[in-house]
Parts: sequence; structure tokens; C-alpha cells
Amino acid sequence: SNLRDDMISEETKSLISSLPSHTDAQGGKICKYQGCWYHYNTLQGVLNFQRGFQPQDTDIILASYPKSGTTWLKALTVALCDRSNNHSSYDHHPLLSVNPHGIVPFLELNIYHESSSPDLAKFSSVPRLFATHMPLHAMHETIKDSPCKIVYICRNVKDTLISWWFFKCAVYKTELNRSSLESIFKSFCNGTFSYGPFWEHLLSYWRGSLEDPKRVLFMKYEEMKEKPHDQIKRLADFLGCPFTKEEVKNGLVNEILDLCSLRNLSGLEINKTGKINNIDHKVFFRKGEVGDWKNYLTPEMENQIDTIIQEKLQGSGLKF
Ligand code: A3P
Repeated sequence: SNLRDDMISEETKSLISSLPSHTDAQGGKICKYQGCWYHYNTLQGVLNFQRGFQPQDTDIILASYPKSGTTWLKALTVALCDRSNNHSSYDHHPLLSVNPHGIVPFLELNIYHESSSPDLAKFSSVPRLFATHMPLHAMHETIKDSPCKIVYICRNVKDTLISWWFFKCAVYKTELNRSSLESIFKSFCNGTFSYGPFWEHLLSYWRGSLEDPKRVLFMKYEEMKEKPHDQIKRLADFLGCPFTKEEVKNGLVNEILDLCSLRNLSGLEINKTGKINNIDHKVFFRKGEVGDWKNYLTPEMENQIDTIIQEKLQGSGLKF
């Protein structure tokens, strides 16, 4: 992890000692709090958030399991919300000079990582955009009386897993070999994985979106890839900033999709060379393909993970 252990308070250390704990595939210590596995320092951020966050009615929270399309969702939402600033052209768009993670930071990993009362002065524009990898139930108490909106993006579990493997190996500069894939695979299937179990994460937002569809939008990476026009319109409608006929006629939908495309973003100087929290921006952009897992998982692995997911999601109405 990029965060320091000395951020953990004595109170949190004592809480951790009472929680189930485990060592994850990279040798990091994780503990299970309210049904979700966190690295110790992430848990501190979660607790700070739970104690200190005060939602505003217009807030938008972008949620995801890591490696499910967070960067893409951040870029699209920034571009959608930024239309009111009336860029006559896209020459000076913030996304051209700042990585999406720099524009929309994570609540528990960045903003509330050190304190439960961070300075939110830079979030002065409306709506405020935040991101999180916490499951929905971890935010429940904190935001239950607020009409703030939550957008969740999920992705096929096998592609998410493979994307994690590449990401982790790039961040920790470890070898991309079968043994690192197998250990990540094993933890993923056990659920003893950062922000896991994966299925609990999915289900918390899935149920939330069924209970309150005006408040929680459930999106799928695969649907975004397949029907980007429909999905970005759906996102804009949900956020309360639908495209006008005029904007559609002027090609704005395509313009935003092009701006936020993997090809465009990954080719920008800022994303080729910059860093955030010690992670090279370029690591957030890889292939962005559906079904890339087929190049790496054996039929046995495929079977094993399909069986688990099928069983866990059974009866929920959620399918991949
Ligand atoms: P792959 O590793 O399969 O290529 P996250 O943003 O949640 O960290 O997820 C990273 C995954 O999203 C990576 O998948 C990455 O290539 C893909 N991705 C990043 N930016 C994207 C974009 N603008 N459009 C589509 N996919 C994108």
C-alpha cells in the first residue's frame, strides 16, 4: 500500500486486534470490518470517513470495486458535469491536464485518509464529486439521510481479476507469472482480498439500486463498451444533467466519449508521465477489453470462479 502505518490511531489498532485478520496475496495485512476486508491503513480512512463526512444534497459519489472501470467512470462524470462551464472547444478541458484520479479523489484512500475533518475547500464547486471503493453498507449510516447520488460501476469478475493482477504487478514491480496469478486468484475466490468479498461488494450496490433507483445507479463496464451512447445518456439522466437535443445534434455525446476514451486519455502527456500517490498514471490504462481473461485463466480456474459467483449471486437477479 502507498499509505503509511503510522496513520493508524491507537484506537484503530485496538479495534483491529479484535477483528478477523489475514495476509493477502501480496503479503499485506488485511482485516474484516463490517463484512469487508481492508488494509489496515484503508480501514483508518474508512473510520475517519464514517466519523467525519457530511454529505451535501448535490454530492455525487462514484463507487466501484478496484479495476472495474473507475478511471473511465470518473472521466465521464467529470466531462458530463463540466458541460455547464461551456467550453467552446475541448482544448482546455481539465481532463487534458489532470488525471481523472486527481480530479475525483477517493474518500477513504485520499480525502479522509489522515483525518476525519479534512479541508474540503477545493470541493467548492457544485456538485462535489467523490469516489470510493467501499461497499455501500459501509457508507449507509453516514449518508442515509442525504439525497446524494451514487453511481456504481461493476465488471465481469474474471476481467477484474486479471486487471488487478497486471495492476498489482506493475505497482509493486513484481513479475507477472503464474504463481502471482494463482495466489491472487485464490484470495479472490476466498474473498480475503482488499475490499472483498467481490460478490458482497456487487450485491450491496445491486440491492441499493433496486431499493432506491433514483439514488443508486448500477452500471456495467461491458454495457458501457457495447452501447456507450445509451449508457452515457443513462448516466447523464441519472445525474440530473440530461443531454439536450441541441447537444446531441452538435455531437457532444461523441465528443465526450472520445475525450474519455482509453486511447485518448492514455495518449495524453499527463497520463504518460505523471504519478499519483506514487502510482504512475499510465498503470491505470491497459487494454480495456472485454474477455481478456481468456488469455490467462485455465478452464479449471474459469469453472471454479464461475461456480462461486453463480452461487453467491443466485436469486439476486444480478447476472453477467
Ligand atoms: P484492463 O486492465 O482490463 O485493461 P480502474 O479504472 O477501476 O482501475 O480499472 C482499470 C481498467 O479499466 C483497466 O482494464 C483499464 O485498461 C481500463 N480503463 C482505464 N481507462 C479506461 C477508459 N477510459 N475506457 C475504458 N477502459 C478504461
